[in-house]
Amino acid sequence: MSQPAAARRIDCRIQLAGPRLYARGNAFTDAPMSDTSPSRRGTNNRQQAIYTQGMAGRVPRIPPEPRALAAAAAKAMTRAGRGYIDGGAGTEATIGANRAAFDGWQIVPRMLADVSRRNTGIDLFGRRLAQPFLLSPIGVLDLAHPSADIGVAEAAASRGVPMIFSNQASHPMEACADAMDAVAKDAPRWFQLYWPKSDALAESLVARAEACGCEALVVTLDTTLLGWRPRDLTLGHLPFLHGRGIAQYTSDPVFQDLMATAPTGERPPITWATLKNALAAARRYPGPTWNAMTSGKAIAAVRQFIATYSRPDLSWDDLAWLRERTRLPILLKGVLAPDDARRAEAAGMDGLIVSNHGGRQVDGAIASLDALPAIAAAVPDMPLILDSGVRTGADIFKALALGATAVGIGRPYAWALALGGRAGVAEWIDNTAAEFELTMALAGCRDIADITDGTARLTRRGPVSASTADPYA
Ligand SMILES: Cc1cc2nc3c(=O)[nH]c(=O)nc-3n(C[C@H](O)[C@H](O)[C@H](O)COP(=O)(O)O)c2cc1C
Repeated sequence: MSQPAAARRIDCRIQLAGPRLYARGNAFTDAPMSDTSPSRRGTNNRQQAIYTQGMAGRVPRIPPEPRALAAAAAKAMTRAGRGYIDGGAGTEATIGANRAAFDGWQIVPRMLADVSRRNTGIDLFGRRLAQPFLLSPIGVLDLAHPSADIGVAEAAASRGVPMIFSNQASHPMEACADAMDAVAKDAPRWFQLYWPKSDALAESLVARAEACGCEALVVTLDTTLLGWRPRDLTLGHLPFLHGRGIAQYTSDPVFQDLMATAPTGERPPITWATLKNALAAARRYPGPTWNAMTSGKAIAAVRQFIATYSRPDLSWDDLAWLRERTRLPILLKGVLAPDDARRAEAAGMDGLIVSNHGGRQVDGAIASLDALPAIAAAVPDMPLILDSGVRTGADIFKALALGATAVGIGRPYAWALALGGRAGVAEWIDNTAAEFELTMALAGCRDIADITDGTARLTRRGPVSASTADPYA
């Protein structure tokens, strides 16, 4: 769904603000918190439910404060899990840049806008979504919680928030699709592809995603090589070598055939740790552990994965091949330069995820939010999802005001998963939706169009450039 060019204007005037907060219902149930129908009148059930529970001495399991959420999750995870999920490339300057970019913009709230009726819904690729955010693909979620992708799938389905299945998932996409359907038939889901060396495997993964009801294909371009991640390097820990995060491969018939030709590769020295890790990899391989051990399949799967998972020689010309092989909308994830955005559009791509992979790939990269306005100007008719560093409702508001159609959020839901499994993710979704709705209303916007059509307004913090010196200009 493309936005009008005006929607991409940075300096935009907001309408008014001043929500009246009533409360009904109990957000601690499994029901979706937010009814965003246009007829809804000034309620924010989630906020009220937290305060009501507080009267009984109960506090939310998922800390609403983002830093507290990160800190609590860090305690709940193993050192290896923490390193993999929280870590970034090099000095992690890109993670900092992502946050600084959001802090660099300020919202100029407008008053008396009658925000008693509010609607946070958007249209995206033919689907009406109640909230303008998606769950970005995160691999190896079993490092956070044993339910991993299944817990997230159930939570996402219960709230109608699209989940992007990761190519590096801990559970096959079919299991996640079934889990979603059991909660809400046809709950929205997309699939993220790491383009493998084998075209046959790429075709198989895409066909499976279509069969699973995925409504869009995300091709991640920024990870044709793995970034230099000191936290993982310090521990010598790459989860895939432990048989983690390769479920989309081991469940794939083409991959299983490829395993017969798995290269031997570099072998680790044999120690107790090697044997323990080999046993753990066998446990994660489908079927009985003993078979996976004695057949050598668990080890062959890891070796074949290493041999096939990435294609550093991928080029713009390859996109035509993929375009011909799927009817799904294709989004390119990792685009940060306006020229690349134009090339993607020319190649028949349907959307972009403006992302630096949460700062995990290039140390010292441009913040995704800083890249967004120029990309929005370069491809005004393409849907844009802003991803990397989004933590709060205000962040979502700022991204939309700067030209995003929606945002993708990563680590926060993994943290919520670590703390509370499926229920934790559902609670985090409710918090995020509630905070965004309140921010929107308090800024004086009744719906997303008020944010994107030029009425909402942001101003630059700190050194003020001439074009933004007067927030009301
Ligand atoms: C632990 C972890 C695993 C990830 N795995 C994938 C993946 O499999 N595929 C992908 O395209 N992006 C992956 N990403 C990147 C996310 O999709 C997203 O771009 C990033 O998390 C957004 O930044 P944020 O965590 O600051 O919200 C991963 C990110 C994290 C933190």
